[in-house]
Amino acid sequence: MKEILDQLEQKREAARLGGGQRRIDAQHGKGKLTARERIEVLLDAGTFEEWDMFVEHRCTDFGMEQSHIPGDGVVIGYGTINNRLVFVFSQDFTVFGGALSEAHAEKICKLMDQAMKVGAPVIGLNDSGGARIQEGVASLAGYAEVFQRNVMASGVVPQISMIMGPCAGGAVYSPAMTDFIFMVKDSSYMFVTGPEVVKTVTHESVTAEELGGAITHTSRSGVADLAFENDVEALLMLRRLYNYIPSNNREKAPYRPTLDPVDRADLSLDTLVPDNPNKPYDMKELIVKTVDDGEFFELQPDYAANIVIGFARMDGNVVGIVANQPLVLAGCLDIKSSIKAARFVRFCDAFNIPVVTFVDVPGFMPGTSQEYGGIIKHGAKLLYAYAECTVPKITIITRKAYGGAYDVMSSKHLRGDVNLAWPNAEIAVMGAKGAVEIIFREDKNDPEKLAAREAEYKSRFANPFVAGARGFIDDVIQPHETRKRICRSLAMLKDKKLENPWRKHGNIPL
Ligand code: HXC
Repeated sequence: MKEILDQLEQKREAARLGGGQRRIDAQHGKGKLTARERIEVLLDAGTFEEWDMFVEHRCTDFGMEQSHIPGDGVVIGYGTINNRLVFVFSQDFTVFGGALSEAHAEKICKLMDQAMKVGAPVIGLNDSGGARIQEGVASLAGYAEVFQRNVMASGVVPQISMIMGPCAGGAVYSPAMTDFIFMVKDSSYMFVTGPEVVKTVTHESVTAEELGGAITHTSRSGVADLAFENDVEALLMLRRLYNYIPSNNREKAPYRPTLDPVDRADLSLDTLVPDNPNKPYDMKELIVKTVDDGEFFELQPDYAANIVIGFARMDGNVVGIVANQPLVLAGCLDIKSSIKAARFVRFCDAFNIPVVTFVDVPGFMPGTSQEYGGIIKHGAKLLYAYAECTVPKITIITRKAYGGAYDVMSSKHLRGDVNLAWPNAEIAVMGAKGAVEIIFREDKNDPEKLAAREAEYKSRFANPFVAGARGFIDDVIQPHETRKRICRSLAMLKDKKLENPWRKHGNIPL
């Protein structure tokens, strides 16, 4: 018996060594952790239960029958993050470059199926040369099996992708269908075709980093949410993100008690908005001063910064924050910001996270590039997302809420539950200057008359009371009481129930 036990340990040791010490050293040489080291950093100490350590590929082509490495390039299993169950797969670049074989895909699928059965999130640590070339179509089939599960799990259990090495070709589409993508700077990249193919087809010279590195995807394409300096920082931040998301679509996000009083008044908010309506201010200051302990987990900070999205807590409960940012493009809605916010609102709605929206929006961005780019269709995504959303929705208008953008930003008409405005809010079809230039065109050569008309329009419409008179906003509040009012509203909405009519699925303008 002792011999058998020893043999098991030897087998385990061999599996843990993956592609061997030389390749592990090479991995470390690139500043990367190994698949198992990553899991150790990600999960609570000693909680990882590994499955399928002894799985091997079944390929007999190109000499592969001579080369079997237990585990076949992916480490899978489950453990906890801050005592909450999570399923993890971690691709092992030291084994055939982490390339995905049929057996490798089967392991990932097994994990995802189990996560769905028990209702726990799936985290994928991606570091792979893509399809296992020696296996041909069997590998492609494996990818498609994973894709199918990504779609079935979407909106059922949260899925998070961490890109920690190459992720190229069709392989990018599994992470693309997950809820969040994190990347590591200088060591990870994602693209559909690499720099050589790009050169051949379009004659563009571009490095892998420029084409699909962490900075590219968090600032230009918006494919990824956050970029980190190294593996350890990325994994520790993933643990933090995990604290804000529920385990599945039937549960609430984890509650964390706070010592921050729910009725904490912040008098500095009374002077946050400048007197001049054309002067910007930092909406993030309002967010940080309103949420529990000033802790805001922002997503996609470097992409479409004219809208801010992220998670925070109010009285211990997780909320999703969406806010126009007057510092960037005056807070206008454009194609990128509409898509960014729409996807976030839909995540919150799918996973029972109330949405708090701070509004200061002068409208949709005008111009040919926006119109030719399809702002009509893309702006409609945000409108659609808010309108179909059934979780508690609280809206605070801090200044401008003009035109269609007023409607879109979680207005009362889109089933906003509690809509509040600061006393300086301007809820109107458009700003006073633009409005009088249209409706009093005959006065355009008479600056004095035009100024008088503008003043009249301002006093008539540039305030929250016209909307208040119709009940389109529920109350006009002092800025310093914003936190208290949101916390009370959330408490009132705790057991909100709202269902959309039955349908197979809606047809969001894609
Ligand atoms: C089998 C692979 C592999 C692959 C790498 N390896 N990619 N084995 N299938 N796809 C092996 C290498 O032979 C090598 O083995 C080890 O992994 C490490 O690779 P290196 O090239 O030495 O590492 P590095 O220089 O860091 O380069 C990494 C790389 C490169 C950029 C990923 O290996 C590469 O370009 N690989 C091919 C990528 C590719 O074209 N994949 C198919 C994409 S199409 P040894 O034994 O020497 O250590 C695709 C379609 C998916 O994925 C479709 C889904 C629908």
